Amino acid sequence: MEPAPVPEKPSLPKLREAVQECRACELYKGTTQAVLGEGPTRARAMLVGEQPGDREDIEGHPFVGPAGAMLDRGLREAGIERSDVYLTNVVKHFRFRARGKRRIHQRPEREHVQACRPWLDAELAVVRPRVLVCLGAVAAQGLLGSKVRVTRDRGVPLDSDLADVVMVTVHPSSILRAGDDRAAAYEAFLQDLRAVAGALTTPA
Ligand code: URA
Repeated sequence: MEPAPVPEKPSLPKLREAVQECRACELYKGTTQAVLGEGPTRARAMLVGEQPGDREDIEGHPFVGPAGAMLDRGLREAGIERSDVYLTNVVKHFRFRARGKRRIHQRPEREHVQACRPWLDAELAVVRPRVLVCLGAVAAQGLLGSKVRVTRDRGVPLDSDLADVVMVTVHPSSILRAGDDRAAAYEAFLQDLRAVAGALTTPA
């Protein structure tokens, strides 16, 4: 494998082009494209998910599938404009296994998160968000270390140098999988997003 070809002086357009050539792990194989984050260059908040899903891989944009719809609903109800935040993932290629014609999501391994990290570091260096939110355990542990527990640490500012305010919450797809507990899972997610909204309106 080759090192991630991150441009020396990154900008979002340069990163978006360069990430397509990434061979830092094997996940590029069989995908349509790499999916970089999207949002304003100087967004005050960055939300980091796990990896693009099937729809994101095809369309080339983060959070445009079912998890994205859940995230959109939460952001809207928490009073956060999606267009004001930078949305990205810790892994830029879709990891899946083929079952017939379907592509089934597979959780990325730590080595994939590590191989992809230079891209997220470059996005952080360009955007420099004041508030950083990890969505789910893969993003939380990838960025903050293996001691983080989403269920225990969610919705409160955590100790990290990555941004002024760093928080974790569940991945929106976990709400879709919550079955009978879906309404409660969504309410808890919304409460975390309201804490993010609060952090965004508090002066630095
Ligand atoms: N899930 C993620 O973690 N990221 C996406 O972009 C879509 C689904």
